[in-house]
Amino acid sequence: MSEQSHILIIDDEKNYLLVLQTLLEDEGYTVTALNDPETALAFLSESEVDVVVTDMKMPKVSGREVLQQVKKNWPHIPVLIMTAFGSIESAVEAMKYGAFDYITKPFSNDELLLSVHNATELARAHRQYRLLQESMEERYGVHKIVGRSHAIRTVLAMVERAAPSRATVLISGESGTGKELVARAIHYSSPRKDKPFISVNCMALNPGVLESELFGHEKGSFTGAVAMRRGRFEQADGGTLFLDEIAELTPELQVKLLRVLQERKFERVGGGAEIEVDIRVVAATNKDLAELVEKGAFRDDLYYRLNVVQIPLPALRERREDIPSLVAHFMEKVTAENNMPPKTFSTEALNYLTGYEWPGNIRQLENVVESCMVLVPGNVINVDDLPAEIRDEDSQFKSAVDLLPVQLDLADTLEKIEAALIRRALVRADLVQVKAAEYLGISKSLLQYKLKKYGITGH
Ligand SMILES: Nc1ncnc2c1ncn2[C@@H]1O[C@H](COP(=O)(O)OP(=O)(O)OP(=O)(O)O)[C@@H](O)[C@H]1O
Ligand SMILES: [Mg+2]
Repeated sequence: MSEQSHILIIDDEKNYLLVLQTLLEDEGYTVTALNDPETALAFLSESEVDVVVTDMKMPKVSGREVLQQVKKNWPHIPVLIMTAFGSIESAVEAMKYGAFDYITKPFSNDELLLSVHNATELARAHRQYRLLQESMEERYGVHKIVGRSHAIRTVLAMVERAAPSRATVLISGESGTGKELVARAIHYSSPRKDKPFISVNCMALNPGVLESELFGHEKGSFTGAVAMRRGRFEQADGGTLFLDEIAELTPELQVKLLRVLQERKFERVGGGAEIEVDIRVVAATNKDLAELVEKGAFRDDLYYRLNVVQIPLPALRERREDIPSLVAHFMEKVTAENNMPPKTFSTEALNYLTGYEWPGNIRQLENVVESCMVLVPGNVINVDDLPAEIRDEDSQFKSAVDLLPVQLDLADTLEKIEAALIRRALVRADLVQVKAAEYLGISKSLLQYKLKKYGITGH
C-alpha cells in the first residue's frame, strides 16, 4: 500500500527537489515536488496528501511555519523535516512542534527512504482508523434506530439531549429492546465519539475476574497475573464505558464502582497508585433497579449516581406501529448481508407479525425475519412460513385491538366490528350472499338477519 502513498516535498532548491522526487518515484510513491511553501500549503488544502517532507530553511516561509500550518489544519499528516548539518537545535524544536521525524543533510538515500516509509505507515494507520471511525458512526449513529412511534421518538429525543454531556445514563428495558444500540448511539453522538466505546457485561464474568477486567491488575497481584494489565476503565479513558447488566454487580463491586463514579479515580487490583480517568458511564439493565434497591439488593447511593439520566426503552408490543418499518429494515439488512434477492411478507403474514406479543422484542423480530428470508424458497413469505408461536390465532386480533381506544362502549364496538366484517365479506364475495355467509362461517339466513339489523343493503 505504501507504494500508492502521496508525498509532498517542499524545498527551495530546485535541483535538490528533483533528485528527491526521482528517488521517491523510483520507490513507487506518488510525488508532488514544490519549491514554494505557500503554493505547497495551498496544494494541501485541495489534495489528498499522506506525508509532507519539508526543508527547514527556506526564504519567505520556513519549514517550521509549514509544520505549524500542517499540524493546525491537517493534524493527521506526518511531517518529515530536513535540516542542514549543524542546525540540530532547529531539529529539536521541530520535534517539539510535532514533526514526525527529522533527517540532517546530507543524508543517504536509505535514511530518507526509511523515514518516509515509517511516515507513510503511520499515515496509513491513521487513514484506516478514520475509515473505521466513520463506519462505526455510520453503523451506530442515532439514525440507525428505526421507528417513528411516539415511544421511540421520546427515546431519540432523550439520546440527543443526553449525548453532548458527560452525564451518566441508565438505560432500562426488557431483553432485546435495543439497550446496547442506544448506548452506542449516545457515544457516537457525543463529543467523545473519536475515543473508545468499551463494553463490559457484568453478568458474563465471575466477580473476581470482573474486578480485574474493570480495574486491571498489577503484575503479581494474584496467581496468573504474570504481567500488568490495564482494565476497561483505563481503556475507556476519554471515551464511554458501557456497563451492561449492571444489576448483576456484587455488593463489593458496587462499592468500587461508586467510588470511581464519585472520584473518577481508582487503583488496579494489587496496586497502590491511584489512576485518574475521564470516562462517561452508560449502564443498562433489564431488571427494575428501583425495586432491587427497595429489597436491599442494590445500593441506593450507586443507584442515584447511575440514574442521572434514565432512558426507559419501550417493549416492542408497546409500539407495534414500528413493526412494519423494523421488518423492512431487517429484510434489507439480510438481503445486503447475504447478497440475496429481496422478498416480501404477504399482507396477512405482516398482520401476524404486527399482532404478536414479542416477548424477545426486537432481537426476536430480527431473528424471525432473518430465518424467514433464508429458509423460505419463494419471493413471498406467507402466514404458513411463520414460526408456530407467531401463527397463534389470537395474535392477529391483538394488533387490530391495539388500534382501538382503551375506553369504549364494548357492545357498541362489537356491533361496529361485526358490521364492518360483514360488509367486507360481501364485497369480497361480489355481493353473492351464500358466498359471504360461507366466508363468515354462518348460515345464509343468519347473514340476512344481520344485514337487515345493520341496514346493509349490499351496495
Ligand atoms: N430501534 C431499532 N432499530 C433497529 N434495530 C434495532 C432497534 N432496536 C434494537 N435493534 C436491534 O435489535 C437487536 C437487539 O438489540 P440490543 O442488543 O441493543 O438489545 P438489548 O436491549 O441490549 O438486549 P439484551 O437485554 O438481550 O442484551 C440488535 O441487533 C439491534 O441492532
Ligand atoms: Mg444487551
